[in-house]
Amino acid sequence: MTPTPHEHETVLEMEAPRVKFGRGAIDELGCEAAALGLRRVALFTDAHLARLEFVERARRSLRAAGVDVAEFDRVRIEPTDASFREAAAFARGARADGYVSVGGGSVIDTAKAANLYATYPAPFERYVNAPLGEGAPIPGPLAPHIACPTTSGTGSECTGIAIFDFEAHDVKTGIASRRLRPTLGVVDPDATRTLPAPVVASSGFDVLAHALESFTAKPYTQRARPATPLVRPLSQGANPYSDLACVEALRLLGAFLERAVHDARDDDAREAVMYAATLAGIGFGNAGVHVPHGMAYAVAGLVHAFVPAGYEADHAMVPHGMSVIVSAPAVARFTASAAPAKHRRVADLLGAGMVRDDEAGEALAAALSRLMRATAMPNGLRALGYTDADVPALVAGAFAQQRLLANAPRPTGEAELTTLFSDAMTIW
Ligand SMILES: NC(=O)c1ccc[n+]([C@@H]2O[C@H](COP(=O)([O-])OP(=O)(O)OC[C@H]3O[C@@H](n4cnc5c(N)ncnc54)[C@H](O)[C@@H]3O)[C@@H](O)[C@H]2O)c1
Ligand SMILES: [Fe+2]
Repeated sequence: MTPTPHEHETVLEMEAPRVKFGRGAIDELGCEAAALGLRRVALFTDAHLARLEFVERARRSLRAAGVDVAEFDRVRIEPTDASFREAAAFARGARADGYVSVGGGSVIDTAKAANLYATYPAPFERYVNAPLGEGAPIPGPLAPHIACPTTSGTGSECTGIAIFDFEAHDVKTGIASRRLRPTLGVVDPDATRTLPAPVVASSGFDVLAHALESFTAKPYTQRARPATPLVRPLSQGANPYSDLACVEALRLLGAFLERAVHDARDDDAREAVMYAATLAGIGFGNAGVHVPHGMAYAVAGLVHAFVPAGYEADHAMVPHGMSVIVSAPAVARFTASAAPAKHRRVADLLGAGMVRDDEAGEALAAALSRLMRATAMPNGLRALGYTDADVPALVAGAFAQQRLLANAPRPTGEAELTTLFSDAMTIW
């Protein structure tokens, strides 16, 4: 019997990253590195974290297990192509057989890129997502990488993505491949005790956006079936597996994000948000994000003079979570009609209560706006220094993110992006 050809996708790939979660997990780092056969690792962190006790615990654990360390602490917060290249140059000279990253998404992504370019040296554009890069496949496996997140957070320990600001193009983009996914994530909520409130808020909204966008993405069954299983995209679209992780992440954020932002001593709340970050990383690692992240890459790339509180950066930057969430209320109104039941569900999980299908977009936008005000997020793009004159450049930057826009529940072209950026100028 010949199999029936399917025009649309019928197969779902469920990738489960290997993650250890819990207080004290960081003290198991050395043992895990040794078990992977590592004798000398390149340890990536940032200059601020390098002085904190948490990174010292990581170093101690590695040393106690007899693992040598070559440390790179010059990771740039919100990395760029130049900072990725500098890290790769360090990695090439480090004579390490594996990688450890201890830090937020900026650090973990930098270690992924350093591992890639040290293992398979190539002109920088080679592996970068099209259309800005060539989008070439990574030729083989990378060296082992243990990722230890210290923000709650990007979920980068679970994903095969490394994001950077491509400075010549004034826009963020990334490298995406299953081969970039860390070998192991070590997620220890102890790290969050030193996190400044603005970082908890901004990285918490990144988590929220990962879960919301993955949950409301175009269902995987609406994507064309790939020509061969080997080219099935990493971002498959909304699916029952990632939905499980996203719903629980959103429930935890609805219950704990405000508490986690406002009280560094609230261990239960900070641990719950850290767990939500990892769950959302699993969700978006399998489903993929869409319009708010696509818009965010344009916003961050076009930064004017905004310098955020709480970040140890010596340059103007819009923190990633902030750049994403400012557009999320406008996008919620736009996408709700494509999946009203899912938008209602998210609104409810964020405390809006149950509403009718035709109220779902407004209710979700209102719930997001309330949570943003309660955690001192900026009131839209204008508060970050953008004006209406920036809209064409923002649209161009977001329109280049075709990988993300293709994952949106509604067709999103330049006209829709223009309306969305205008709507995102002021939120309340
Ligand atoms: N690869 C992915 O899947 C993925 C997903 C989402 C975001 N990202 C990227 O991750 C980056 C953002 O990462 P982030 O939000 O985790 O923040 P970050 O790594 O940029 O760090 C933010 C700030 O918090 C400080 N910090 C980090 N941990 C701390 C701790 N425990 N105590 C005190 N200070 C601490 C850092 O020094 C820095 O000043 C962006 O470039 C974004 O595009 C990647
Ligand atoms: Fe993100």
